[in-house]
Amino acid sequence: MHTDITHLAIDHPGANDSAYRLRRDEIARAAIQFHKTGGEIPYIGYSSEEQTTWRNVVGTLDSLHAIYARDIYLDAKNILQFSPEILPELRDVSKKLQYESGFQLHPVEGLIESRGFLSTLAQRIMLCTQYIRHASRPEYTPEPDIIHELIGHAPTFLDPDIVKISECIGRAALYATPEQLIQLERIYWYTIEFGLVSENGKIKALGAGILSSIAECERAFATEIIREPFTIQTVIQTPYDFSAVQPKYFVCSGIKNLRKEIELFASLL
Ligand SMILES: [Fe+2]
Repeated sequence: MHTDITHLAIDHPGANDSAYRLRRDEIARAAIQFHKTGGEIPYIGYSSEEQTTWRNVVGTLDSLHAIYARDIYLDAKNILQFSPEILPELRDVSKKLQYESGFQLHPVEGLIESRGFLSTLAQRIMLCTQYIRHASRPEYTPEPDIIHELIGHAPTFLDPDIVKISECIGRAALYATPEQLIQLERIYWYTIEFGLVSENGKIKALGAGILSSIAECERAFATEIIREPFTIQTVIQTPYDFSAVQPKYFVCSGIKNLRKEIELFASLL
């Protein structure tokens, strides 16, 4: 009998696709095993359908990145050299990233509680999913998938300021009270996941959730969308829905300023 490890909401694109759900569980089990026994990050061996989803997304994202991504992100993506044809394995990207920046990507079975996720960043490890979004909705995923982790997050760890911000939030999450943890989640969400940044007079994508989603990337820069200046005091009071597109975005005034603000906030907790 098959017991679901992965729980998909009723409106999830893969909710009624039993083969997709079985595949998600198979990949989740490999991550659970990794955390039990250690060793090498599991190779998934992506199917031709999964490779097609990768191909369908990365080409369009490349064109959006050329307009909306930061220079440092574009340089980092060149260094990591993702193939537009072949979905890379997390183990290979993690090894390359560790060599380039000291950051590693370890597998996780799905969304986990925020203290566990954030505090792992203090060890320069990001917990990453390895499954891919459902083929019927390549432009958007309601939860992180391998495209989000590799295209959204991995290149950003070649930015020393992102590394420092991640470590800082990670260390703070270790000892934060439940109320402070909610504040840290929101800071992380509105910067590392869905932040925008002003650079050389232009607004650019900072967050992995924007960089890895065609729909979110187009939305974040649409004229009718609300974009507010980032302040810590505003974002810690702004709840979010992790499985919906963002109703508004916050624009920080440069990555160095953002790092200073977050480090100051964390030092006062
Ligand atoms: Fe993420």
